[in-house]
Amino acid sequence: MRPISLGVFHLATVVHLALGAAVFNWPDPLLDGLDSQLYEPSSVSIIAVNCSERDNSTVAAQWLRLAYHDMATYNSTTGTGGLDASIQFEFTRAQDVGRGMLESLNDFFQSPNEYIGMADVIGMAAISAVVACGGPVIPFRGGRIDATEAGPATVPEPQQDLASHIASFQAQGFNETEMIALVACGHSLGGVRQVDFPLIVTDDVPTGIQTFASTVGFDNRVVTEYLDGTTENVLVVGSNITTRSDFRIFSSDGNATMQSLASPETFNKVCADLIERMVNTVPSTVTLTDIIEPLDFKVQDTSLYPQGGSLVFLATLRIIETGVNRTVTMFWKERTGTFCPPAGCSIPVMQVLSESSSLLAQLKGVAGFNRHSFNASIDLATSISHFWFEVNNNDGSAPFIVNNNGANYTIDQDVLVYDPQRTLATFVPGSVERLVVGIKGPSVPTNVTALTTVAGNETVPFTTKAINTFELDSSFTPTDGYTFYSSPFDFAGGVIPLSHTIRATINETEYSVWVPGDGVL
Ligand code: HEM
Ligand SMILES: *[C@@H]1O[C@H](CO)[C@@H](O)[C@H](O)[C@H]1NC(C)=O
Ligand SMILES: *[C@@H]1O[C@H](CO)[C@@H](O)[C@H](O)[C@H]1NC(C)=O
Ligand SMILES: *[C@@H]1O[C@H](CO)[C@@H](O)[C@H](O)[C@H]1NC(C)=O
Ligand SMILES: *[C@@H]1O[C@H](CO)[C@@H](O)[C@H](O)[C@H]1NC(C)=O
Ligand SMILES: *[C@@H]1O[C@H](CO)[C@@H](O)[C@H](O)[C@H]1NC(C)=O
Ligand SMILES: *[C@@H]1O[C@H](CO)[C@@H](O)[C@H](O)[C@H]1NC(C)=O
Ligand SMILES: *[C@@H]1O[C@H](CO)[C@@H](O)[C@H](O)[C@H]1NC(C)=O
Ligand SMILES: *[C@@H]1O[C@H](CO)[C@@H](O)[C@H](O)[C@H]1NC(C)=O
Ligand SMILES: *[C@@H]1O[C@H](CO)[C@@H](O)[C@H](O)[C@H]1NC(C)=O
Ligand SMILES: *[C@@H]1O[C@H](CO)[C@@H](O)[C@H](O)[C@H]1NC(C)=O
Ligand SMILES: *[C@@H]1O[C@H](CO)[C@@H](O)[C@H](O)[C@H]1NC(C)=O
Ligand SMILES: *[C@@H]1O[C@H](CO)[C@@H](O)[C@H](O)[C@H]1NC(C)=O
Repeated sequence: MRPISLGVFHLATVVHLALGAAVFNWPDPLLDGLDSQLYEPSSVSIIAVNCSERDNSTVAAQWLRLAYHDMATYNSTTGTGGLDASIQFEFTRAQDVGRGMLESLNDFFQSPNEYIGMADVIGMAAISAVVACGGPVIPFRGGRIDATEAGPATVPEPQQDLASHIASFQAQGFNETEMIALVACGHSLGGVRQVDFPLIVTDDVPTGIQTFASTVGFDNRVVTEYLDGTTENVLVVGSNITTRSDFRIFSSDGNATMQSLASPETFNKVCADLIERMVNTVPSTVTLTDIIEPLDFKVQDTSLYPQGGSLVFLATLRIIETGVNRTVTMFWKERTGTFCPPAGCSIPVMQVLSESSSLLAQLKGVAGFNRHSFNASIDLATSISHFWFEVNNNDGSAPFIVNNNGANYTIDQDVLVYDPQRTLATFVPGSVERLVVGIKGPSVPTNVTALTTVAGNETVPFTTKAINTFELDSSFTPTDGYTFYSSPFDFAGGVIPLSHTIRATINETEYSVWVPGDGVL
């Protein structure tokens, strides 16, 4: 802890130091978004919770199989393929048969953005799937890069012989022992669908799917039922011997590995390690982040825009719920001249909202978050350069400051600002939307554009990028020293923007502003 002097107070700086965890220095759109998707309650992971049923299997089973099939393109000799979302270009192949593939990709359509690839989303989904069905917590690292085309057709199939399977898993980075365990871990969930494999599921099953184990959840029943001879796994006991791939794999070392997995603790530990390795199997050119733990202090939802003779500055500080009733104060300093007192301008919180957390967060001991939001009125002439917070837990402990690990939360410019209010002011459902930015005058910008990441859909199931151009919008009167530029956006055509990086060149300097989306501008 580094004491820093703020006027007459001596306050400790809080530095996030969870051992081995990724450190968040705002702004960091990748860590920010991954933390939200892993740990906030509204994330897509909620769909799988309670090992929820879908298509008479489970959402979790579909997500885990999708992740394995995506990873199965890895070639350890060349360091290519792996978890890279190439499945988006492959799911129509016979080796990827099954409605769960496109259904899962549909679940994930709105989760990527310019910084978070679909590959990270697929990895997070695999981890969320395992806990959703009662399995172990698996650490997550981010930073995967999405492939732009299909990978090789290297997903193992049931009619292949044992030697082919050993070779496939070797290429994917798993030895024979690990192959046995990883298949058992995967086949803890779900089963084989008659419509997809009529030559394997030869007896009619009312639900259309013959499950691998008698329990729905993530557990080692697939192992114990195999060992005690009660299994109904068609890849073990199916009438067609050619397609008994699980039998060939499980028995390939004289059942030694399967016997070791008969202990539920061993099963969970081995599966956690192997599924983590599966999810972290990425092209050799990709460097993953440190492990992402729930962030203690996270600045979110900031915006700065002109209104009524000043700049409105909105910011939210998300803090992990710990049962204390905190007082949080936001401080800031001007950009030019003198306006704020030496200790900084300050404002009390506008609103504190409590929200729950994802299942994964709860399993990590994070029951919920408090969102402390602020609405500051900033002097137009002197503007704002950086901000920070003082937190008082009101429990007798010393107040402390939260200032981005000592670096302050810095607002690099106020020349090009995203204007959420004018953007929303034009919103009529089903109409053509306008994205609005303000440009500080007198300045004539050139080339005001947004690089927009657009969600995929059933026809084009991967995110695409579009460049949208802004024009001077005379329907907004220049005010408070800003002129307004807008770009139409066609919601009505089913196009869902996921994020924007807006850029403008002014007096030969390029400015940019990051606008994370949430499906709705
Ligand atoms: C030799 C290796 C493997 C073969 C031959 C194989 C084969 C199959 C087959 C034929 C199905 C039925 C799919 C359908 O009916 O549409 C299936 C389902 C499944 N597989 Fe595998 N698999 C293998 C390895 C793995 C691995 C390593 C994992 C994950 C770690 C995995 C996870 C799953 C899951 C979760 C399902 C159930 C999907 C659902 O119910 O929707 N499989 N597998
Ligand atoms: C999961 O099940 C519990 C207990 O039945 C229930 O309270 C909870 O709402 C369920 N969660 C979801 C997301 O369905
Ligand atoms: C991996 O790449 C090497 C070199 O290109 C190739 O010879 C080999 O067949 C590949 N392995 C698989 C399983 O595709
Ligand atoms: C696979 O690797 C593990 C350690 O990573 C080792 O314990 C095991 O004996 C290996 N299995 C084979 C068949 O080489
Ligand atoms: C699920 O099972 C029911 C019978 O229990 C069946 O009518 C239905 O078609 C099955 N759904 C799918 C997607 O296979
Ligand atoms: C058994 O499965 C193999 C591979 O799918 C297939 O070629 C063969 O026709 C099947 N045999 C029977 C009797 O269905
Ligand atoms: C492995 O276990 C299975 C299921 O109990 C059994 O059918 C098989 O004979 C065993 N194989 C060996 C080599 O022990
Ligand atoms: C927290 O403290 C504030 C200000 O002292 C008070 O208005 C509020 O009711 C308290 N909230 C809770 C949940 O105790
Ligand atoms: C913030 O305060 C301004 C007035 O200064 C008000 O117009 C605006 O609606 C407020 N925004 C929010 C999100 O409360
Ligand atoms: C952070 O802001 C405070 C208050 O304005 C200032 O004294 C300090 O020098 C700033 N630190 C950095 C690293 O910019
Ligand atoms: C751009 O240059 C003009 C003319 O010198 C000046 O008035 C304006 O403030 C400059 N704008 C910015 C953002 O630097
Ligand atoms: C305009 O901006 C786009 C996107 O940022 C860029 O690709 C293009 O090169 C720019 N054009 C000019 C003339 O600067
Ligand atoms: C799917 O997305 C593509 C590319 O963004 C778009 O051209 C197409 O109209 C969309 N299709 C549907 C059915 O929304």
